[in-house]
Amino acid sequence: MNAEDTTMNSPTEAARAAETRPIANPLPAGVGAATTYMPPRGAPVLEGTHLHKQFALRQFRIAGGQQVVHAVENASLALYPGRALALVGESGSGKSTLARMFARLYAPTSGGIAFEGQPVLGAMGSTRSALRAYRRQVQMIFQDPFASLNPVHSVRYHLSRPLRLYDHARTKRQETEQILALLDRVSLSPAEQFIQKYPHQLSGGQRQRVAIAQALAVRPKVILADEPVSMLDVSIRLDILNLMLALKDEEQLAYLFITHDIASARYFAEDTMIMYAGQVMEGGPSDAIIQQPKHPYTQLLISAAPDPDRPTDVQFQARGEIPSLITPPTGCRFHPRCPHAMPVCRERFPDRTDLGNGQWTHCFLYGEGNDTTSTQASIAPTAAQHS
Ligand SMILES: Nc1ncnc2c1ncn2[C@@H]1O[C@H](COP(=O)(O)OP(=O)(O)O)[C@@H](O)[C@H]1O
Ligand code: SF4
Ligand SMILES: [Mg+2]
Repeated sequence: MNAEDTTMNSPTEAARAAETRPIANPLPAGVGAATTYMPPRGAPVLEGTHLHKQFALRQFRIAGGQQVVHAVENASLALYPGRALALVGESGSGKSTLARMFARLYAPTSGGIAFEGQPVLGAMGSTRSALRAYRRQVQMIFQDPFASLNPVHSVRYHLSRPLRLYDHARTKRQETEQILALLDRVSLSPAEQFIQKYPHQLSGGQRQRVAIAQALAVRPKVILADEPVSMLDVSIRLDILNLMLALKDEEQLAYLFITHDIASARYFAEDTMIMYAGQVMEGGPSDAIIQQPKHPYTQLLISAAPDPDRPTDVQFQARGEIPSLITPPTGCRFHPRCPHAMPVCRERFPDRTDLGNGQWTHCFLYGEGNDTTSTQASIAPTAAQHS
């Protein structure tokens, strides 16, 4: 299909209504207001191109051989210093798998990852020392702060390990000074008291602050935050997001911020990328994605977000549930639910279309494949590695 064909398949009234509808913000009033968008400048610090991940399941079927979960298909993204990219999608859309490939906890089935322009996958990048050097720069914060801390060890232990491992503290005195400074930076004060405590003596928010301090102790350039506030009480989510935002500016950290809550994506991140069933559907400035979503799935997500002002009769309609990723739909995986699906949508996944002002989508409704900026051939793809 070419660009001219799009008029024949333009979104329906319901989809148009969803495109222009403002979204309510579940964060406190006044939070998350639009800011002037500045596109990323300079070179990305971390970049992934054409990343695929398939998990081979242990069970064999009597007929048909081994089953495979097609968790991520052909995802590319770039992170820049001092900026955040939010990755948004429902549960099971492949967000954590993508983050874990960047954290090098999972080896991509294919695709490339580059840190500061240098490819990091392959035999040379997978030695113990190469992985350690990589993790010195790229740290992950997990959803469950209780699971990421060992209940038998104190806060001091948790923060001293990265300081020693990465040679940031050589003496006990340096170590104590740095731990106290880290606790101060994440607003756990008085730091002298918190250094002695054990995970069970801390609240959920305090534990997540320790987990953030643990990541900061390494002095990374990139933080991959996988739903860092979704398990915390609503009343403290904003405090933790604000702490992370302050650190982003002070340290010029590059963030990948994973969330299923599109309003916190807008609050936290300059840019947003939407995933569905392992495929990347739409991306661009967070405000544009929320105020003028173009992809039918983004419109569905926004329509489903809590909004007391929205009459129920204008909800965007989509049929069905998220598909199994063992036998995903062909082509655009959203096609069984999409009210605009066309025959071509079942045949193949559309290339990326540039919509202007930094927004782009993978959807035949908007033509296909006019986006030259999406072709980042700088990273040599790696073939079939297995975790
Ligand atoms: N280690 C694994 N083995 C097999 N399947 C997995 C594994 N991790 C994730 N998956 C599957 O991959 C898909 C994407 O999961 P995930 O990345 O956790 O999604 P999200 O973070 O968006 O909820 C899901 O179908 C999930 O069941
Ligand atoms: S490409 Fe996907 S989202 Fe776009 S019209 Fe086809 S099925 Fe719908
Ligand atoms: Mg997840």
